[in-house]
Amino acid sequence: MQLSPSILNADFSCLLEAIERIVDLVDYIHFDVMDGSFVPNLTFGPPLVNSLRKKISLPFDIHLMIDRPAFYAPYFQVGPEDVLTFHVEALDSPHEAISAIRKLGCRPGISLRPRTPLSLVLPYLDLVDWVLVMSVEPGFGGQKFMPESLERIRALCKERGSRGFLIAVDGGIGPDNIRAVLDAGADVVVVGAAIFRAPDPREAVRRLWEAAGHPRS
Ligand code: DX5
Ligand code: ZN
Repeated sequence: MQLSPSILNADFSCLLEAIERIVDLVDYIHFDVMDGSFVPNLTFGPPLVNSLRKKISLPFDIHLMIDRPAFYAPYFQVGPEDVLTFHVEALDSPHEAISAIRKLGCRPGISLRPRTPLSLVLPYLDLVDWVLVMSVEPGFGGQKFMPESLERIRALCKERGSRGFLIAVDGGIGPDNIRAVLDAGADVVVVGAAIFRAPDPREAVRRLWEAAGHPRS
């Protein structure tokens, strides 16, 4: 398993410290970029992500919940290990978004809302490095995991065959369901509220590794 904490529910007044406290126990940092149009919520954009990019060496997993991913992608200062994920439902065409992201020299990811048919992402599976399966409706942290996502993860695993993309799952994951998400075939687990709303986020990360069956300290 790879763990990608979503900072959406962290205390933004001390974001760098909040990340540094768990940085040695995780594999990526997940950034939820929202534009108030693709989703009914606003968060942050390239200035925040780029300033943290200079201070943290872990790969960034940037989740673009925005309508024009191809237009905005070049504003992110990213490197070869970073992942920039757009939504298949966004206004720009997936081909445009993938080529804009490839041009930056980072890894393109594609995501889909829980009710979007999986068939919509199948034409792009040869072109991306990462598929982000949403297990809640995008827009807010702290929602309940949608159990039908497990079937989608299994179906995507079957579709993967010998292709190299990673399967990431985002939304409503915590110690009680992380094992089920991994058993369904997820490679990367995104966890927000279960870490950053916990009284001790570092302890919460340790509990997740334990629940996943791979204790880390
Ligand atoms: C939802 C975001 C998620 C969210 C996950 O729109 O894409 O990344 O922050 O957080 P939890 O684990 O709180 O559902
Ligand atoms: Zn996300």
